[in-house]
Amino acid sequence: MIRAFVGIPLPEEAADALEAAQAGIPAGRIVPYDNFHLTLAFLGEQPRPVLEDVHDALEAVRVPGFSLRVDGLGMFGGARPRVLFAELAVEPGLAQLHRKVLRAVREAGIELPRERFRPHVTLARFGDGLRGEDAAEMQAFVARRIGVRAGPFAVERFVLYRSHLGRAGPTYEALSEYPLAGPAGEG
Ligand code: 2AM
Repeated sequence: MIRAFVGIPLPEEAADALEAAQAGIPAGRIVPYDNFHLTLAFLGEQPRPVLEDVHDALEAVRVPGFSLRVDGLGMFGGARPRVLFAELAVEPGLAQLHRKVLRAVREAGIELPRERFRPHVTLARFGDGLRGEDAAEMQAFVARRIGVRAGPFAVERFVLYRSHLGRAGPTYEALSEYPLAGPAGEG
């Protein structure tokens, strides 16, 4: 079985901006620069033939290139924050790519939960969740950085990744890359 997801690797300037936004995070496991990505669809553990069908379906996805914009920081987990992330603006091109990737993955036979798309790049993880003073400190950190803005950053491809879980955290291997179409008329 292969643990896989479909995502967008961050353009270098976007990754630089997010690395700067990580400075001073008071707690948790910091996501390393090379792991920064935007998840479009988490596939879980899948047999190789299913991933081959996913690959075929992703190859047929046609979406024009678009830009990403970082639009503040946020946390998942409510009163017990589990994840710190950089929020991304929902550009029409990104929403369209997300829709088409989900459709392709479902065509390949994988069931995906129906959730609202909240595009983000995870910057730090807090395990089961922060409590007490740690939670308050993180909330204060986010409040100080709420105005973080960066971009636009041009996106030219998306990727089918394999995730290798390790003691030192996951590493991601690109299994296949899919170019976005050029501007109108170029493919
Ligand atoms: P994230 O995008 O919020 O960081 C690869 O594991 C990526 O898939 C992670 O970056 C992760 O979240 C996303 N993902 C979504 N659901 C997941 C799950 N149940 N387990 C692990 N990763 C998940």
